Amino acid sequence: MSEKVLEVDSLVGGYRGVEVVRDVSFSVAEGEVVALLGPNGAGKTTTLLTVAGLVRPIGGSVRVLGRAAGKEPTSRLARRGMVMVPDDRGLFGELSVADTLRLAQRSRVRKNDDVVDLLPALRPLWRRRVALLSGGEQQMVALAAALVRRPRLLMLDEMSLGLAPQIVTGLLGAVRSMADRDGTGVLLVEQHARVALGASDRAIVLRHGEIALEGDRHDVGSRLEAGEGSYLGDAVSP
Ligand SMILES: Nc1ncnc2c1ncn2[C@@H]1O[C@H](COP(=O)(O)OP(=O)(O)OP(=O)(O)O)[C@@H](O)[C@H]1O
Ligand SMILES: [Mg+2]
Repeated sequence: MSEKVLEVDSLVGGYRGVEVVRDVSFSVAEGEVVALLGPNGAGKTTTLLTVAGLVRPIGGSVRVLGRAAGKEPTSRLARRGMVMVPDDRGLFGELSVADTLRLAQRSRVRKNDDVVDLLPALRPLWRRRVALLSGGEQQMVALAAALVRRPRLLMLDEMSLGLAPQIVTGLLGAVRSMADRDGTGVLLVEQHARVALGASDRAIVLRHGEIALEGDRHDVGSRLEAGEGSYLGDAVSP
């Protein structure tokens, strides 16, 4: 059995005491990619922010890399190997790609770094300012900045937002490779179920703040196709 890098038990999360997610339990093992799916407003981002210590949990427990994390500051979780890429990417537009990666890794990242090998389209952009890159290019930089930190737990919020499917497939391929190669455990928040399932081992579908479906990717995929969970990521049924 591989080690669990994230264990979430009966989590209740929300804002100013108003519950947004309830009774959410799941885990992520090292080397495993888990997709957290669900329609707009289902509570995906709230779950990530709570796990990351950016929103205080109302109830339940979170363990990151085997240690209770519920009320720990994000900075401490980050030192323990948790990296989160927020849905707004969290980049500084004035920095070049090279400087963004150097800041993330705290040392110079070479163009032949294995992370750059996974995302080779970064090379021609190396000296460009992040603000001048396209949305897909920026997302690639945000992912690379996360990967050069060699996270043990990587959490990604809506990488595919506004991007063409082939770009997303490339980004998710890099994520999958890191999980397979380095044993990174990944929690992948996505609104687009089909794209996310392609790179995942297991999936959890949130609906109205509760787990509506969970299982291995084939199981969740076919149940979603069959209309269970009333959600497919591209459309929300009435
Ligand atoms: N800072 C906040 N204060 C109060 N309510 C919030 C806050 N952020 C989110 N919410 C509410 O929590 C609920 C869940 O939002 P959340 O952002 O977690 O959903 P999501 O699944 O990530 O949706 P999306 O796919 O649109 O990103 C929504 O009803 C939202 O309005
Ligand atoms: Mg969200």
